[in-house]
Amino acid sequence: MKRRNIILDCDPGHDDAFALLLCCYSEKLNLLAVTTSAGNQTIEKTTKNANNLLHFFNKENIPLAKGSSSPLKRKILTCPEIHGESGLDGFNFPLYEEKYDSKEGYQLIIDTVKNNKDVTVITTGPMTNLALALLHAPEIKNNIKEIVLMGGSTKEGNMTKEAEFNILVDPEAADICFTSGVPLRMLGLNVTRQILVTDEVIAKASKIETRGADLFVKLMKVFNDNQRKFFGLSAGPLHDPATIISLIDEEVFTFIDMQVKIDTSDTEKVGKTICLKDKPYNTKVAVNVNIERYWENIFEHLRRCK
Ligand code: RIB
Ligand code: CA
Repeated sequence: MKRRNIILDCDPGHDDAFALLLCCYSEKLNLLAVTTSAGNQTIEKTTKNANNLLHFFNKENIPLAKGSSSPLKRKILTCPEIHGESGLDGFNFPLYEEKYDSKEGYQLIIDTVKNNKDVTVITTGPMTNLALALLHAPEIKNNIKEIVLMGGSTKEGNMTKEAEFNILVDPEAADICFTSGVPLRMLGLNVTRQILVTDEVIAKASKIETRGADLFVKLMKVFNDNQRKFFGLSAGPLHDPATIISLIDEEVFTFIDMQVKIDTSDTEKVGKTICLKDKPYNTKVAVNVNIERYWENIFEHLRRCK
């Protein structure tokens, strides 16, 4: 079976970590490159976390480049309340060699898209790097098969009433991506906040005797505690793997075609994803999730990380 060429742009981040695990262990995907964004933590910390995770998944030879340290125009926002000071609190990695591509993140995206056919670019953090790539080399639009993002919401936000974190951090970058003409697939809070790391999920993962499952259980305990404290949720939503699962198992999410616009105003609505039906569409928006099947995908890939 032909694997789908993908790039993952991420801000690990507890949930990003398992999006990356799925990329590394799915036989349906060909992970060409990883780039990091500043979001859950500073760019230095998200990049170190991505380096640790690639080594842990025995994929240290996949090109990894550090992305932009700040949004296009606005001040950086981080989220230590959820992800901790390191950005991935809860697991002590061995001391791995720090192996980074010499290019800027956006340049690695440009070069990887130009050197491969039909590349899907997946973003699970603020969209700054992809926006920079499109600004520096608009011609890459013809080689990008699809942009798949965790971000936005058809309903309320999480960081403000209106806005979800990844879009709020860099609304201008999101606007560049959503007006690029490249087909988009959006997995927003309206579905990802239904995917909770409950005690039952942790108990099931605890029975899987692999390194990947051990990583999951240890990281999710911290993630859940912080989500309860900061958001008052019963358990943490495992947002980011939704992007990957939407590509490897078509039965999990239901999408509808919508026109999605980004509010880049300086009002309380900034960062809102304005999702409209019956308009010329630019985005496939996830509106339903098969939660049981989502977790089946997660557990299957935790089993593979021996
Ligand atoms: O709002 C949730 C999103 O913001 C997730 O991608 C999480 O990792 C943070 O980046
Ligand atoms: Ca993320």
